[in-house]
Amino acid sequence: MRAAVYREYGSPDVIRIEDVEKPTPEDHQILVRVRASTVGTWDAEARSFSFPLWFWLPLRLAMGARRPRWPVLGQELAGDVEAVGKDVTGFAPGDRVFAAVGLGFGAHAEYACVSSRSAVPHVRSVTHMPANMSYAEAATLPVGGDNALHFLRLAEVRPGEQVLVNGAGGNIGVLAVQIAKHYGAEVTAVDSAEKLDALRGIGADHVIDYATTDFTRAGKTYDVIFDLVFQSSYSGALAALNPKGRYIIANPRFLSLLRARFTNRTSTKTVITQFAGSKLEDLVVLRELAEAGEIRAAIDRQFPLEKAAEAHAYVDSGRRAGAVVLTMEDPEPA
Ligand SMILES: NC(=O)c1ccc[n+]([C@@H]2O[C@H](COP(=O)([O-])OP(=O)(O)OC[C@H]3O[C@@H](n4cnc5c(N)ncnc54)[C@H](OP(=O)(O)O)[C@@H]3O)[C@@H](O)[C@H]2O)c1
Repeated sequence: MRAAVYREYGSPDVIRIEDVEKPTPEDHQILVRVRASTVGTWDAEARSFSFPLWFWLPLRLAMGARRPRWPVLGQELAGDVEAVGKDVTGFAPGDRVFAAVGLGFGAHAEYACVSSRSAVPHVRSVTHMPANMSYAEAATLPVGGDNALHFLRLAEVRPGEQVLVNGAGGNIGVLAVQIAKHYGAEVTAVDSAEKLDALRGIGADHVIDYATTDFTRAGKTYDVIFDLVFQSSYSGALAALNPKGRYIIANPRFLSLLRARFTNRTSTKTVITQFAGSKLEDLVVLRELAEAGEIRAAIDRQFPLEKAAEAHAYVDSGRRAGAVVLTMEDPEPA
């Protein structure tokens, strides 16, 4: 089968299209004929191996010290069930599914094995995809949606609360904005100027261009700040929180982790720093939200698998507003 492969860490040029062995499903696995996947920040970060220093070494050992242990990237997919292992129930060949593949990656290929047993390392969750979505649309939901649901649930967002999403135009952000709206919050979305129209389009009540306005100094306070930007000011964000506000840091610096422990002990404000896993229940919630029209996919561009390196370069450019989709055949009509 064809796959986008990286054999060394580096720039988008390290991505090559190769013929690799088609995976064989184990007893608990489903073999999916992948129709669409995404190139997300997580793929670009893994390819270039640009991670915060405190996190660099353990992750490098897990992902391959000298060269990538799992040479096919791609953490989420949508496609058709091709075959099922003997212990799998509830799926049959031909079913349309979407899945979060997990840290083992592997979705930038014509076929991938996934498992609905969330305890299995590197393979996460799979379920039937939303009936009202194309493969390309469904492929954009699992990772960003799982993360957004996980953190917004921890923050216990309530109707009428003020929620600010910093970095709202990215994979997690576009879903966080929509899910916070679904919870009944009034949502402020912060990102670069060219993404603000799209963010209004998915329901943001207020938008802020981070290049011209520092939300921490704009005089407004929030019940929840969902921060997806590594460089953010911890003290600035904390100052922009209401007394019982919750500050979610998706990508914390080491110092922020230490400060979060102190804040949580000494203040009425709560700081949430965690790794978000991917759960089957959340994938089901995402499907239900999509079918009810509460969330929709925000696709910036589609690239065929052959142009995976170009898709990576586009993600690296930071110009995208929403997801960059890789299709295994010709792109579906919009
Ligand atoms: N804790 C966890 O379990 C977990 C799981 C997954 C991901 N993460 C982390 O969460 C972060 C976000 O993930 P993602 O996939 O949503 O990233 P993403 O798609 O790259 O989105 C980040 C967004 O932030 C914008 N941005 C950059 N600088 C900004 C600033 N100063 N102020 C406001 N917005 C700014 C970017 O726009 P530009 O185009 O202007 O750059 C982009 O739209 C990543 O760092 C990732 O490592 C954590």
